[in-house]
Amino acid sequence: MSIPIHTGAELDAMRLAGRLAGEVLDYLTPLVKAGVTTDELDKLAHDYMVNVQGCIPAPLNYAPGGHRPYPKSICASVNDAICHGIPNDRALKNGDIVNLDITVIKDGWHGDSSRMYIVGEGSIAAKRLCKVTYEAMWKGIAQVRPGGRLGDIGHAIQTYAENHGFSVVREYCGHGIGRKFHDEPQVLHYGRPGTLQEMIPGMIFTIEPMINAGKRDIKSKNDGWTVVTKDRSLSAQWEHMILVTETGYEVLTVSAGSPPPPDFITATKT
Ligand code: MF3
Ligand code: CO
Ligand code: CO
Repeated sequence: MSIPIHTGAELDAMRLAGRLAGEVLDYLTPLVKAGVTTDELDKLAHDYMVNVQGCIPAPLNYAPGGHRPYPKSICASVNDAICHGIPNDRALKNGDIVNLDITVIKDGWHGDSSRMYIVGEGSIAAKRLCKVTYEAMWKGIAQVRPGGRLGDIGHAIQTYAENHGFSVVREYCGHGIGRKFHDEPQVLHYGRPGTLQEMIPGMIFTIEPMINAGKRDIKSKNDGWTVVTKDRSLSAQWEHMILVTETGYEVLTVSAGSPPPPDFITATKT
């Protein structure tokens, strides 16, 4: 059990991988419209990663213990899908909410980020869930500092989500990332302040809360990957990759098209 500490050129490699993941999401933004299928988005994203960016799509054939190889290059989780949705031939329709989760490998280093997209005009409830989930991710990010503990992150996210009447999925968490897609530490999106691993400069991990409009319980579909809410309520997720710095944090998956941080994030911390 050891958590990688990154320095020097490794940090620049991870900054590049992170930005490239964000740029795939930027590229997809205008393409997410009523009538497009998630299969079409998968193919476009695949070609962009491979031919434009010179990257490998990490999900394709990814097969962690107990899972069949993942069959596509991106994850697309629509409405009640929480995560790991497999792109398919169903057309997106007005009002759908969809999480697109991109993981690139650039020069052996992973960049992992996801965003929510609302197709056409979303309901008030759908827009609120996506916004609160985005803010919950940033509440977690704002806790990142050397000497802080991972439990501070989970507590901030859980408190914010539950105060808005939503629930936090417990079965999936953020993760260390670098040469490995999923490394130590696990970053829970719930918990108690002052508990768990101490954050140390050079650690890199994702924060990727999955927040349900209804109950937190999950159900796995028989495709071997897709996870949905048991009560069929909407679910949202955002994901950034965070470096612990000497003074706070640096978000590695920012790109030109990233939504701005919420107003409660004041200074740019580096
Ligand atoms: N990108 C996901 C994460 O944030 C993992 C997807 S694994 C896949 O950790 F195989 F489903 F792509
Ligand atoms: Co991740
Ligand atoms: Co991801």
